[in-house]
Amino acid sequence: MVKKYRGFVFREPSEKSKQIVLRDQQVLSPSYTRSYGFVMSHGIGAEVWDVDGNHYIDFAAGIAVLSTGHRHPKIVEALHQQVDKYIHIGATDFFCQEQVKLAEKLQEIVPINGANEPDQIMTYFGNSGTEAVEAALKLARYQDAKRTHVIAFYGAFHGRTMGALSVTASKYIQRAGYPFIPGGVEHVPYPAKSAEDAWSDAIGFIQKFVFKKKVSPDQIAAVIVEPIQGEGGYLLPRDDFFPQLRALCDEHGILLIADEIQSGVGRTGKWYAIEHWGVKPDIVASAKGLGSGFPIGATIAHRDVMQKWVPGAHASTFGGNPLACAVASATIDVIREEGLLENATKLGNYTIERLNIFKESHPSIKRVEGKGLMIGVEFADKNGNPIPHFRNEVADHCYLNGLLSLGAGESTLRIAPPLVITQSQMEQGLDILEHVIAKLEEDMWV
Ligand SMILES: Cc1ncc(COP(=O)(O)O)c(C=O)c1O
Repeated sequence: MVKKYRGFVFREPSEKSKQIVLRDQQVLSPSYTRSYGFVMSHGIGAEVWDVDGNHYIDFAAGIAVLSTGHRHPKIVEALHQQVDKYIHIGATDFFCQEQVKLAEKLQEIVPINGANEPDQIMTYFGNSGTEAVEAALKLARYQDAKRTHVIAFYGAFHGRTMGALSVTASKYIQRAGYPFIPGGVEHVPYPAKSAEDAWSDAIGFIQKFVFKKKVSPDQIAAVIVEPIQGEGGYLLPRDDFFPQLRALCDEHGILLIADEIQSGVGRTGKWYAIEHWGVKPDIVASAKGLGSGFPIGATIAHRDVMQKWVPGAHASTFGGNPLACAVASATIDVIREEGLLENATKLGNYTIERLNIFKESHPSIKRVEGKGLMIGVEFADKNGNPIPHFRNEVADHCYLNGLLSLGAGESTLRIAPPLVITQSQMEQGLDILEHVIAKLEEDMWV
């Protein structure tokens, strides 16, 4: 077991980090779930340093956020340029050219059902992933007052405001203690490719149980789904799932909402992950990587859907802030100009291939799965059961050896570095990860 100070693991030297962590514990909400005492000093690309001068490869990217890496010069430049013009205007009441420019760029990259021409796509801006989901749920329910219900999936994480929480079913602790979570949500099994049981038949479940025994399909406004489950454990869906889900939605006039907050903006090697299955959703929720670390959320839909909203139906003071929009526009440009979709695909394939070879002689690894740079490494004991304590030790020891990583789901470690990561940085990170897994297998795997 790794040694802890006040409940956290620290890499030496750690004097300054410890001081900040102690101060943090006095003044910040205890609702966060940190495990190791990394305190950021600065970063560049896919490398970061803590306040004690220790260096790391970053496989976490601020929870899959820093698409263009830390301090990309074109992102910094876009921020500087906008800061010199104006910082806020409140686009609820005034017009903001940076929002228009970004919405036009999103028309070029977001797949939307029925939008044969880019000008059929419209966007609403918020400040976070949760807000993008919240807006998507409100927009979907707003279409038809009779359609009150939404279908969501077990394992899904869609955010933490009450509406977003109502469709989240990732960990019970996220819902516990909140008695008035809105209703009208039917959770069904997520058809993970790796699932070995009948629970993988989500479409059958919806047809046999939800439609027949609980809510008629004409009462359902939308199905909300993560194309690849993120917080749920980096789980790919069965290959036939999205085409079948699209057909089911079409048959019953139900809107399909893709929560692309973690999987979107190039992370999986496509602009939006659902493209891997050749399906277009009706509404896309996008955030995280869109702002390269600057807070922004976007809810994107077909003009016919978005135009149901009347003035006052939904808005936000800060949503689509000009700084955020300038950064997001620059992010899309950088991803295009630097071939980051291709980089994510190339380095993702390299990583999956390499870890699958490593897995052959390392039995603690049950699953290596992903698309692009959204890759999960799942651990299990000799009987195939989840071993969260082992996964946590892997993350802690990676940190001690100079690699930032994060868990996902019960027993999975996520690999989600900035899309700008180089081959050599990827190799350095994987060297650390493999070394840590091999050592921990000797010491504690059973
Ligand atoms: C798929 C998904 N949806 C929604 C959210 C919520 O986003 P935010 O934390 O920006 O509110 C997250 C965050 O992890 C997410 O992964």
